Order: sequence, then C-alpha cells, then structure tokens
Amino acid sequence: MKRDYGTNGNNGTNGSNLGWIFSVCFVISVCSVISLQSFSLTQSKKTDEIEKKITALLEQMTLEEKLGQLQQLDGHADGRYRELHAQLIRRGLLGSTLNVRGARITNELQGIAMGQSRLKIPVLFAFDVIHGYRTIFPVPLGEAATWDPSWVTRGASIAAAEAASAGVRWTFAPMVDIARDARWGRIVEGAGEDPYLGSVMARARVRGFQGEDYSKPGKIVACAKHWVAYGAAEGGRDYNTTEVSERTLREIYFPPFKAAVDAGVGTVMSAFNDLNGIPTSANSFTLKQVLRGEWKFDGIVVSDYESVRELINHGLAADEKEAASYAFNAGVDVEMVSRLFNQHGGQLVKDNKVRIASIDEAVRRVLRIKFRLGLFDQPMIDESREGATLLNENHLIAAREVAARSIVLLQNQRETLPFKKELKSIAVIGPLADDQVNLMGSWNGDGRKEDVVTLLAGIKAKVSPGTQVSYGKGCEIDGDSTTGFNESVMLARDAEAVIIAVGESAEMSGEAASRSSLDLPGRQLDLIKLIHATGKPYVVVLMNGRPLSIEWVAENSPAILETWFAGTQGGHAIADVIFGDVNPGGKLPITFPRSAGQAPIYYNHKNTGRPPDAKNKYTSKYLDVAWTPLYPFGYGLSYSEFKLSNLQLSASRIKLDDKIEVSVMLENTGSRVGDEVVQLYLRDVAASVTRPVRELKGFERVTLKPGEKRRLKFTLGREELGFYNREMKFEVEPGLFKVYVGNSSEGGLETSFEVVD
Ligand code: NOJ
Repeated sequence: MKRDYGTNGNNGTNGSNLGWIFSVCFVISVCSVISLQSFSLTQSKKTDEIEKKITALLEQMTLEEKLGQLQQLDGHADGRYRELHAQLIRRGLLGSTLNVRGARITNELQGIAMGQSRLKIPVLFAFDVIHGYRTIFPVPLGEAATWDPSWVTRGASIAAAEAASAGVRWTFAPMVDIARDARWGRIVEGAGEDPYLGSVMARARVRGFQGEDYSKPGKIVACAKHWVAYGAAEGGRDYNTTEVSERTLREIYFPPFKAAVDAGVGTVMSAFNDLNGIPTSANSFTLKQVLRGEWKFDGIVVSDYESVRELINHGLAADEKEAASYAFNAGVDVEMVSRLFNQHGGQLVKDNKVRIASIDEAVRRVLRIKFRLGLFDQPMIDESREGATLLNENHLIAAREVAARSIVLLQNQRETLPFKKELKSIAVIGPLADDQVNLMGSWNGDGRKEDVVTLLAGIKAKVSPGTQVSYGKGCEIDGDSTTGFNESVMLARDAEAVIIAVGESAEMSGEAASRSSLDLPGRQLDLIKLIHATGKPYVVVLMNGRPLSIEWVAENSPAILETWFAGTQGGHAIADVIFGDVNPGGKLPITFPRSAGQAPIYYNHKNTGRPPDAKNKYTSKYLDVAWTPLYPFGYGLSYSEFKLSNLQLSASRIKLDDKIEVSVMLENTGSRVGDEVVQLYLRDVAASVTRPVRELKGFERVTLKPGEKRRLKFTLGREELGFYNREMKFEVEPGLFKVYVGNSSEGGLETSFEVVD
C-alpha cells in the first residue's frame, strides 16, 4: 500500500510519524551519548594504562637510560644507520633517529632494541617527510596555492602511509612558519605569508599525517616547526636573528602553530633563530609560557639540528654544559644531533642545575608518544608492504591532481591558453623543460628522479599523435652560457606554439638557500626575450620555490603559469593545464614583488600615517619602483570567468559577542567548468592599536559549471573580529568593520558593519 505523507496539512509529517521520528532520534541520541561515553571511557582507561606503564618503566630506568631517550642522532643520507646507533641502542641509550629509513633497515635496528636492550624500549624513526615520501607532491608553497585543504590532507596522508611502510613514524612536518620575505629560501616549505591560510594548511597537514589517531596503520606523528618566528630572519638570510614584537608574534607567527596544536600535533620543533635576544631553543616564554602553559601542549619538543649546541655561538651559553641546561630548562625535551643533554645531564643533576623530576617528565613525553604510536605493541613492521605502498597507482593519481590544483595562471592574454592538442608542432624550450631532479623540489623525501615525469614527457603524452614536439634546453638555469640560444630560436620559429620552462633549481630555495635577488637566474630572461621576438604564441612555465620578480615577463609574455616544483607527476599535471584538461584554479599564497628591494612585502600590512599617494612625494613609497606588488596575495586567473554579486550581511550592527553572516553570489559566466577561490577580507577601521589594511578571514574554493551560480556563506565572530589590545588581551572592540569579498587580496565587493557595546 502506498503511504500518503502529505494529506494532513502538517508539512507532510503527521502526528504518528512525528512520534516515530522522535523515538528514532531519541534512540540515536541515547546510543550516541552512550557510545561517546564508552569511547571516552575506553580512551581514558587506555591513557591511564599508558601512564602506569610509563611510571613502571621510569622506575627501572637509570639516569643514563633516561637521557638516552632524550637523544636523537642522524643516520646516513641514504637511510642506513650508523654503527654507533646500534651500540647505543643495545645499551638502551638512544631514543630516536633521524633519516634512518626503509622497512628492512628500520626492522634491523628495531630488532636490536627489542632483542638486545635491557628494557626493550622501541626506537622511534624520524624523517623529513615534507611533501611526500616516495611519491612527491608539490612543494608546500605550491600545495598552499591550491587553497584546498582537503587535497592537502590527502597528500599528507599518502606521504604518511608511504613513510610508515618504510618504518618512519615521525615526520618533521608541517613547517608552518609565516614568511614575508621572498629572499628567505625556506619560504618554499611553508604555506606563505598569511596566518589564516597558514592555519588552515597547518590543520590540514596534521590531519593528513596523524589522522584521528596516529596509532592506526599508515599514520605517523607530525611536528609543527620551527617554533618560532624563524621566517622573520633579518634580510631574509637563513638562520639570522629575529626581532618581533609580542603582538606580531601572537597575531602573525603563532596562529599556524596554535592551529597545529589544536589539531593534536604530537611534537613541535624549537628553531635556530635568536628571538628578541633569547634563542628559540632556550626561550622559556615561547616554549613554557605559551606552548605548555597557555596552549596545554603535552607532546614532545625536539630541538632543531644542533640548535642546543648553537646556544654557544649565539653568545647565550658560555659552554656546552650551560647550553644543555638552558635548552632543557626552557622546555626542550629531545636534542637533535648534538649530545649535550647526554654528556652533561648527569653532572647537571648532581649540581642541582637540572631537576631529575623534569628529566622524568621529558622522558615521559617521549615514551607517551611511543606508546601512542603503538610501538611497544608492534615495534617491527611488515617488510612486504613497503613495495606495494610506495608509488602506488592511487598515490600517483592524487599527486597529479594536487599538482594540477596548485598551478596558478598568472597571465593569459587573448586566450593564448589552453593550447590545442592538435597543434602541428610545439617547441618545448628551457633548462627546466626536461629536468627530473628539480621538479621534485628541495625536500624530496625518498623521491627518485627516475620516477619523475618531466614537462617534456607530460607534453608528449598529452598531444595528438600527429603533433611534432621538439626540445631545446636553451641555457642552464644559472650561468652565462648562451650556446643553446640559436638552436632554441630555430626550434621556436619552426613551431606553431612554444612552451618555455624557466625558474630556479630546487637548491635555490629551502634550507640555507637565501637569495639577494629574486630575478630569474642566469640568462633565462634573455632566452624568453629571444623567443618573444619570434612572434610565436608562447607560455612561460615557471618552476620555483619562491616569488620571483618577473616584471618584464609580466608585461610582455602572453601567458604565464606558476607551477612551483610540482613533484613526481609534475609534467603530466602541467600538461593537463596547458592543454585544457584541467582549468587552473590555484591562487598565490604569497605576494610577488616587482623587485627584491620591496621585501618584505605582504598584503596585510599597516596603513601608515602617510599611505602611498602617487601625487604626493611625502608618502610611503619608493623613488625607483612602484609600492604595489607585481601580483597580489590571493591572485590567480582561470580559463573561465567568474562574477561575484549581491554581497549581503545578516545585520548592519552586531553586539561584541555576536556573530555576523556574510553571503555572496558566485557565478561562472565563462564557457568552461572552472574553480574560483572566493576570499573574504576584513578591516577594523579604527581600534586601540593599529590594524592591517586587510586580513583574510575566510575562503572557499568552488567548482562551477558554465552558467552555474552558488551563494556562499561565511560566518564572522569573536575569533575573526578580535585582536590583541594594548594589554595584550584578545578582544573585540566596538567600531566600524569593512568587509571585502573578492578573488584576490585586491579589489572585490565591499560593505561594512558596526560592532556595538
Ligand atoms: C634542520 C631543519 O631546519 C629542520 O627543518 C629539519 O627538520 C632538520 N634539519 C632535520 O633534518
């Protein structure tokens, strides 16, 4: 019999149905309360058991063994361990290693810990799994350009699965340092200049590496680094001194770390830099007061590589013993590579310079992570899984997808792109066009060059069988030689269209890779100019780990794609975009300057008392370069067009603790399916301390079909409207707020509302 739900004028729900729905809801809620309760009971029982086991172990451990748990030593670059590791582990004197990896190798060393050491405490194997283990994803700056946290989570989760299959259960990622100065090479490892985007990406990566529970198969414990303000290095020179006010720390540099801690990150790395006179690896304000005190972080703090010993170079510690006590007492638990806790810990305890209770606490944290990882129950791994996990087909598909999503279309005059696959001939030119090594970026885990699809290979695989693809290197990435110029120009003349791949080598960004110039190195710009002079349609494909100052290219080249270092599947992904199988939707996570002299340059700057005005000399600008960026934060084009309209607020006034909803209509007015990243910025017009001209407070990457419309909603509340006031308290203040909704940090629709007491 057909049931009629719509006859009683009760919105289609009659009395008996309502009763039925209520009963089901009641049962469901009771069940979920019970199951939540039993889940948290099981959890707390598990936690208690772990703490008891740790206490029992601590009671049996000698001081030497305890200090051993606080030591991390470096293996060989190719993954092998050192003989010293085996010796120390046999005696129970080494807690973790760095760089030792591979199922067979880690099992071998773990076998010694479990079979030959007195207390059988497993070793924890750590490695820098930054943007992939064997399947390499785009560099983190590129991943941030996706503005798509779900894909970033997916990338990290694949990296975790591959690493875990090779015995690695601890990654030194995510790097969540905010970077405002493109000269700093490590800008490539983070999510760019913005604390909001940086926080979203930090959360996404922690979730990907750790999942809900890092004891699960294929999960590893993450490490938020480098705590803190490492990216504020003076002059953009790596390892350099930083001077950052507490307000800027709290508003700009801390938020991505806070996001990582809130997402449950298991470990944090103390940095190399001197911060306001106290190096971060001995800074009790950042390590103890903020991290442990305010944020209740209960995981491990590991020092960066020898940063404990470097306290002597900083001029803080007079000798090794002092360095060990400063770092340890400030809150560092595990010492990476230098061995000062190990060598001086005993004496420091005797001298009453370090409390044994504090050592126990640090060891407890290390053991807790080892228990939580399940290492005591399952120290050895199944060696047969490694081969099937690394470079798994699904991993490659995901790497291609993330790479394609990370590509930013910077320019596309007269619809130069996409190129047709049926072109008769294409010339592929440039030093990065057929390069496997550099495509992997600066931290490429266990990536192998032979796995990498170059741009040339990607193009050949994409075009029609009849298309002739020629290739000329043109010049080197760096250096003065122009011997390849003539050949490349000839190839370009003979082709219907040209693709030029230029940029930096992977080693020009990353650690210890700062540059004073942001120009294209070597003779690459000259090569582009020669190709330009042929009059052929061409696209400049940029591969680089930082913003580049490419003013000539921006003014003259018909099409430009920013592809970062796109990883193992990079060549396929870039070809997907060039030939229109993927419509580019990435946006810049970082401002592109016109010249290095503008650094630091970032969108969320203060207004100054004399904001730049072309007609007034006595305003804040340069004599020899515009004050504006070449490309602003959040910028990126599409093969489609999008229109934003009908910006609405749920109220024109709200109370201090209220929330306000902002909504806007987005329409794809072009002729292709495409993605737009809608971005919401706020400006607090007048406050008790000066506020940035704009701050990102929400965004969404949306895919729309041609003609499709969607209304997007953003909610703003205390977290988005507040800031640190003169008393350094996070508060919302009454006054006028401007709202901008657009497709970059410039322009957009504008409205405003008032917050009242
Ligand atoms: C030094 C780097 O600063 C840090 O990011 C990395 O995790 C360690 N070396 C270990 O490789």
